[in-house]
Amino acid sequence: MKLTILGGGGFRVPLVYGALLGDHADGRVTRVVLHDVDAGRLRAIARVLAERAAGVPDAPEVTATTDLDEALRGADFVFSAIRVGGLEGRADDERIALAEGVLGQETVGAGGIAFGLRTVPVAVDIARRVARLAPDAWVINFTNPAGLVTEAMSRHLGDRVIGICDSPVGLGRRVARVLGARPAEAWVDYVGLNHLGWVRGLRIAGRDELPRLLADPVLLGSFEEGRLFGADWLRSLGAIPNEYLHYYYFNREAVHAYREAGRTRGAFLRDQQAGFYAGVADPAVPALELWDRTRAEREATYMAENREAAGAGEREAEDLSGGYENVALALMRAIARDERATLILNVRNRGTLAALDGDAVIEVPCLVDAHGAHPVAVDPLPGHATGLVCAVKAVEREVLDAARSGSRAAAVKAFALHPLVDSVNVARRLVDGYAAVHPGLAYLR
Ligand code: G6P
Ligand code: MN
Repeated sequence: MKLTILGGGGFRVPLVYGALLGDHADGRVTRVVLHDVDAGRLRAIARVLAERAAGVPDAPEVTATTDLDEALRGADFVFSAIRVGGLEGRADDERIALAEGVLGQETVGAGGIAFGLRTVPVAVDIARRVARLAPDAWVINFTNPAGLVTEAMSRHLGDRVIGICDSPVGLGRRVARVLGARPAEAWVDYVGLNHLGWVRGLRIAGRDELPRLLADPVLLGSFEEGRLFGADWLRSLGAIPNEYLHYYYFNREAVHAYREAGRTRGAFLRDQQAGFYAGVADPAVPALELWDRTRAEREATYMAENREAAGAGEREAEDLSGGYENVALALMRAIARDERATLILNVRNRGTLAALDGDAVIEVPCLVDAHGAHPVAVDPLPGHATGLVCAVKAVEREVLDAARSGSRAAAVKAFALHPLVDSVNVARRLVDGYAAVHPGLAYLR
């Protein structure tokens, strides 16, 4: 089984490889091909992987290439985890939005739109190449903004592209934990778009336990989203939102905290990662150790400004080891071995949410088997949530339109229609500002 990882020089690749190292069953991945546009990053990550594989007898073989077509040919699975414009681009996304007083975040609001506008054309090119060179491959998309990018790719790959994210899994795990259930025995009723979903129920042995959580201030104060949103607001919603909804429900505080921060998240990671890649280039430096230290610091500081704005304190120790690589592995296993699994994934709607058309990519629990990921039937969202989902999907559609046609007007419309951008004039200035710094937006006319 051949797995191709696009963005193979990326910092989180060792997590995926670590998950593969723990898989010894038949049908497991035996070959990993790393692809990246940057050979230096490939060398750095290949070193970390080699140290990680030491002593594991059936470790998947790793090769690396900067030739995309060569990487894709013959792949059974393709993981796409690229970052168009790098972390410098992420820092620019944040800075330009914040200068206008609106949210600059990797996936939400103006920052997410800018990131989407430069990522979609690259993702579409990849999708076309996969369709030509590896038509039977399954594409697992981690590339952010994951819902939008998955939808862009699905126009060329249909249901053979599946988007993943660890935030709904983490949320479901935390809610199950505080309710005293094992995550495996809990059914999480979650739906929305990527980074824009809600847990509306958590059934254990057929019984919805979420009302018990919502009624208990001590339980609500004992996990990340409970502290981030506060007991009163969660009770008013009657649901537990994905942590990224903090940017919507507490937008003013989040923007303020981001503006006050000495460095934005993107700028912090840009500097941190530059240190890591420079360090690993020195053969005397133990690569895995440096990687692990860097990873721990990254995880501990995740959404620090939001937590600070909410007075939510530090992250829990058990939230620090992601679930991202486990979702990816579980998805591959279910498809490759036809082992039925239920996973929250980004797939085409196909009638699941009546307010959206069938091709809109949504985030929803899916039954997965050898034929792919099939969304389960869910209750409709309440009006306020449907409103947000439809507004953000309309924005995504403008981004897709801009990327396809090169229309600057469509790009302005994308920014202007976003609920977190408060004026058409701001949208116009954002397009000018982003186009001035991002070479990847030169196509806008
Ligand atoms: C979560 C999100 C991912 C995102 C990551 C960002 O895992 O679900 O979509 O890539 O956080 O974390 P970072 O360390 O880059 O701020
Ligand atoms: Mn995510």
